[in-house]
Amino acid sequence: MRIAVFSTRPYDQRFLAAANQRHGHQLTFLEPKLDATTASLADGHDAVCPFVNDDLSAPVLAQLAAVGVRLVTLRSAGFNNVDLDAARAHDITVVRVPAYSPYAVAEHTVALMLGVERRLHRAYNRVRDGNFALDGLLGFDLRNRRVGIVGTGRVGQIVARILRGFGCSLRAYDPYPSDEVRDYGVRYVDLDTLFAECDVITLHCPLTPASHHLIDAAALEKMRPGVMLVNTSRGALIDTRAVIEGLKDGRVGNLALDVYEEEADLFFEDLSDQVIQDDVFSRLLTFPNVLITAHQAFFTQEALDNIAETTLANAAAFAEGRTSGNELVAEEVRASQ
Ligand code: NAI
Repeated sequence: MRIAVFSTRPYDQRFLAAANQRHGHQLTFLEPKLDATTASLADGHDAVCPFVNDDLSAPVLAQLAAVGVRLVTLRSAGFNNVDLDAARAHDITVVRVPAYSPYAVAEHTVALMLGVERRLHRAYNRVRDGNFALDGLLGFDLRNRRVGIVGTGRVGQIVARILRGFGCSLRAYDPYPSDEVRDYGVRYVDLDTLFAECDVITLHCPLTPASHHLIDAAALEKMRPGVMLVNTSRGALIDTRAVIEGLKDGRVGNLALDVYEEEADLFFEDLSDQVIQDDVFSRLLTFPNVLITAHQAFFTQEALDNIAETTLANAAAFAEGRTSGNELVAEEVRASQ
């Protein structure tokens, strides 16, 4: 297939080109993000391959359909940026990579947890600056801490397994509880109980209309003072402004993020010589107890290998008229949420 790969970075090109030796698609690597101003670049292609912050809203899908695109092969698990109803209306099939390395995301989640509470981001800079004082670096043992896992799918389950090794006391909320997760010593509770009981709350559910701003001012009111919040899922699960108020009055003791609700204008770019225009994000950066990475939880060699292979295999299946099993159908997605 002729596939226009949007938001291409050098590492995407490297892993996709390597996997394509097995598939033989015609790949066009494009640096721009896919949106209404760039959709015309897909002209002459059968498929587009977007990433997490590309825009696949109804108007963009209409433009893609008009230039002959029949397949969207997402190189991500998340698909909240795609209007699946509009895709179907334009007869465009949407496929994704449901699992590539949940270990990558789970391990990064735990790295963020440890990093923020032991203040590794501050310690690193201090030691380089010859400042060996410990004031301001006081952490806490994770052992015996109550950790609440919101969403116990692929990633959440692995987080549970890792944290069991740390000796944490685990709670979880998921509309579809799993017996396997219970076997790791996790106790399922309702969301309010999880908020009320946990010292650490980590988010591993998809972004849907139901989970948008799951952590808002009302949710923060229910939490223990000094709670640690960790989000490696999707930025808009958290109402950032509400969490900033919580950080200011101490209700939130630690915040670790790999995703941010307005990340599309920031992440995956080198903006180091520019003035950041997002005042909310800039405020987050001023807190000593906030650690942010720029959507890198997925970024391991194993994950990129798997993403490239599945993305191109999905396209091959479509070209041959087969189903890959990774198709996204609006009704099925709605029914599972
Ligand atoms: P999954 O689909 O395997 O599991 C999601 C779980 O969340 C399911 O068990 C589902 O029942 C549950 N769930 C759905 N709605 C919920 C709600 N309102 N409250 C609580 N639980 C709910 O997904 P997976 O693979 O574990 O991924 C989890 C998240 O991680 C997704 O949002 C995905 O977009 C994100 N992700 C982030 C990456 C990164 O680089 N930061 C990379 C890959 C995934």
